[in-house]
Formats: sequence, structure tokens, C-alpha cells
Amino acid sequence: MTSRYKSYVSIEQLTEHVGQTVELRGWVYDKTAKGKLVFIKLRDGSGIVQCVLFKPNVAEDIAERAGELTQESSVIITGTVRAEQRAPGGVELDVTDISIIQIAKDYPITPKEHGVEFLMEHRHLWLRSTRQHAIMRVRASVVKAIRDFFDGNGFKLQDSPIFTPNACEGTSTLFETDYFDLGKAYLTQSGQLYAEATAMALGKVYTFGPTFRAEKSKTRRHLTEFWMVEPEMAWFDLNDDMDLAEDLVEYIVQYVLQTNPRELAALGRDVSKLEAVRRPFHRMSYSEAVEWLNANNVKLNRKQPDGSEIQIDFPWGEDFGAPQEEALMTQFDKPCIIHRYPAEVKAFYMKRDPNDQRVALAMDMLAPEGAGEIIGGSQREDDHDALLARLQHEGLPEEAFQWYLDLRKFGSVPHSGFGLGLERTVKWITGAEHIREVIPFPRMIYRIVP
Ligand code: 4AD
Ligand code: MG
Repeated sequence: MTSRYKSYVSIEQLTEHVGQTVELRGWVYDKTAKGKLVFIKLRDGSGIVQCVLFKPNVAEDIAERAGELTQESSVIITGTVRAEQRAPGGVELDVTDISIIQIAKDYPITPKEHGVEFLMEHRHLWLRSTRQHAIMRVRASVVKAIRDFFDGNGFKLQDSPIFTPNACEGTSTLFETDYFDLGKAYLTQSGQLYAEATAMALGKVYTFGPTFRAEKSKTRRHLTEFWMVEPEMAWFDLNDDMDLAEDLVEYIVQYVLQTNPRELAALGRDVSKLEAVRRPFHRMSYSEAVEWLNANNVKLNRKQPDGSEIQIDFPWGEDFGAPQEEALMTQFDKPCIIHRYPAEVKAFYMKRDPNDQRVALAMDMLAPEGAGEIIGGSQREDDHDALLARLQHEGLPEEAFQWYLDLRKFGSVPHSGFGLGLERTVKWITGAEHIREVIPFPRMIYRIVP
């Protein structure tokens, strides 16, 4: 693409400039000197290249400037691009000139090991290091894949509001704030309810934005602020919903494999595991999953009134936690959709299965390699009276949901949707240990800075 704005040769484009003299702009990642040679590893956001300065070849002041460079100093380096088989990017730069923009003094993150707390406090700088850089590039690819997938399949992006007057995913995890003379407002837990409204206006929509949960859980996969993409489709039943979820996840994974081989290599990711993520995925009902757990002796720890713990068979009707999900996934090398959960453990808006009133037409997609739930979705209750009864049963304020009930009064149709957690997905694809590494500035119960 040509643009009116300044454009510089970037490190990722260097292979197209072999033999040419280019001017690179960036930051010093590392520097070593050996006799008459100075090796400067320069990073510019797109990649890293080794710049080699041979002192006898340059004027004295240029060599002096090379001597002054410290980690993270900003520079413009001019040089000739040379093919170099052994270099990670296939090229090196023979330096002819250096111009210093700013010398960085005592950059706090050095190549030595730092504790996670220290790195989290310096998250604004930590993002510059190779591993974080690779994760952020994969994150950008996942977002692009999601948008391309939906835009290319007849979906319209419709943003849902972030301030909302009511709960979507249960009242226990709401962030509350004062809203002028109108009382309390809540940070949205999900854009779904509004997506249902826009789906009735536009057919197939998706909402993609930040969502908030006042989760008390300190786990490796919970954030208080996370991004979720939520498609919502008029006329889709649960099966259509599951098919779409599979297509989306396959598309995302294959897109990242194609787009980010270098990043995945930098992360040491076993790509054969990702290559296996091809449709059809596995599917089983909640009831089948409970049977499997019990047949395979996966016990549930249950506290007794006297404080002691006993191990019991998994009782039909309880929600799965991470231990059950992990056990179930040990049999699979690609994602599995669990469907038809007990209605009592799922949200009020889910439609009951006409063939079994105990279960909701719900589905969760679990990712392999211990990654856990990445998608939650369902067919929605489209009958006005049934939905009203569910609202009352859950003790939710009817007035706040009048507009939502309206959708069941004026041309109600079967419809379905799901939410895919962006960070859960990036964590799985990159193989990151903890969800705090896959969003630029994570928000968790015990961290809000920087
Ligand atoms: O299963 P959840 O709660 O479903 C919903 O919010 C539905 N309203 C979605 C819909 O049908 N439109 O959340 C969906 C996904 C989860 O599968 C998970 O990937 C992610 O959102 N998620 C979280 N990610 C990070 N931190 C948290 N605290 C998360 N809670 C949910
Ligand atoms: Mg869920």
C-alpha cells in the first residue's frame, strides 16, 4: 500500500533489500564488541536484525557513537543489507552510519532473570522483549482473523455498550459505578443481549469489545477486563451455532500458522499441535461427559460439614470446573464442544432443550493442552413467557429487561450465538503460561498498574 505518510524500511522487509543501503530506525536490543567489531542488535517493532560495525570501515566519530549505545537507546542506523544464512531473519546490516536520537540510561530490564512481579510492574517496558513482542503480534493476528472471518461471511460488526443498566452473566461478578441521576450503572459482562437486538435488525452480527467480570478467582485464566467477540445469528439453532464456532476457531488457528511462523518459533510453540486443529472437532453432551468422568474415576473433592474432604463421583447437575475440563480433554488433540448443560447452572437467557427440559441448549468449547474453555454460547430462549419466567426465577429486575423481552414480542425468531474469549484463545495458541502475558496491560484483582 502506498501512503502519504513517512515510511521507513522495516526490519521484516529487509530480505527484499539485499545489496541496498537502507536507513533503519529503532532501539538497541543488545550490543557486544569484539576487537574491531561492534555487533548491535537493533529492533524496530517488526523484528530484530544484527548490525555489524567494522571500525576500520567507518569514520572515528561513528565508531565512538557505537561505543556510547546502551540497551534501548533510540537510533537511526544506515548500512548495507547483506544476506546471511545463519542469521534468524536471513540478513545482516553492514553499518555505515549511526545517528543517536536518545541514550537510554540504566534500562531496568536486563537479559538476566527478573521475577514476574518486577516484570509486571514494568509491563510498559516488558512489552519490548522478544517473547512479549511475539505474543502481541500473534494477538493482533487473532483479532484480524476474527474480523476477516466474520466480515467475509456476511456478518455486520455492531458495537454493544459498555455501561449497562443490568446483568447479563449473573449478578455476582458486576462492576458497579454511579451514573449521574440515573442511579447505578454496571460495566458490561457481555455484549450479547444487545447483539440479540442488532441481530433482529441486521440478521448476522458480531460485537467485539472489552467485557468486565468482578471475578474473585486468582487463576491463570481469569482477567477482570478481557476482550470477547460475540456473533449472534437470527434463525441459527444450536447445531448451526456449534458449526460456526468450529469454523471460526479453525480459521483463526490456521491464519496464525500461516501469518506468524516466526513468532511461534520464537515462543517455542509446538506447531504440530496447532496444525491438528482441523474440523470436525469433538462433540459430546454434558451427560456423556459426566459418564466419562465417572467411568474414568475422575473424582470430585467435596468438603464435609466437619471440614474434612471426601472424594465422590461427579454428580449430574453440577457445573464443571477446571479439573473436570482438563481431565475430559486428556483424550483429545483438538478442541471439543460440550453441549446441553443442566439449565440450572447456565444463564437465564438459554433455551431449554424441547427433548429434555432439564438441560439448556448451551455449548462450551474446550481447547486442548490444558487451555480450558475458550467459547461459551447457546440457542436463546425465544418465547416471551418462558423467558419472563426465567427472569423471575433468577430474581432479575423485570423493568431493566423490558426492551429485551420486546425482542420476543415483535417478530421473535429462533436465534443463537456465542462468545469467544480473545485472551483465552491467544493464551492457548501462543502456549503462554498465564493470561496476564497475552493482553498489553492486564487487569486482575490484585493489579491495575501500569
Ligand atoms: O461463557 P461466558 O461467560 O459467556 C458469555 O458471556 C455469553 N454471554 C457469550 C455469548 O453467548 N454471547 O464467556 C464467554 C468466554 C469464555 O468462554 C471465556 O473464553 C471468556 O469469555 N471469559 C474470560 N476470559 C478471561 N477472563 C475471564 N474472567 C473470563 N470470563 C469469560
Ligand atoms: Mg462460560
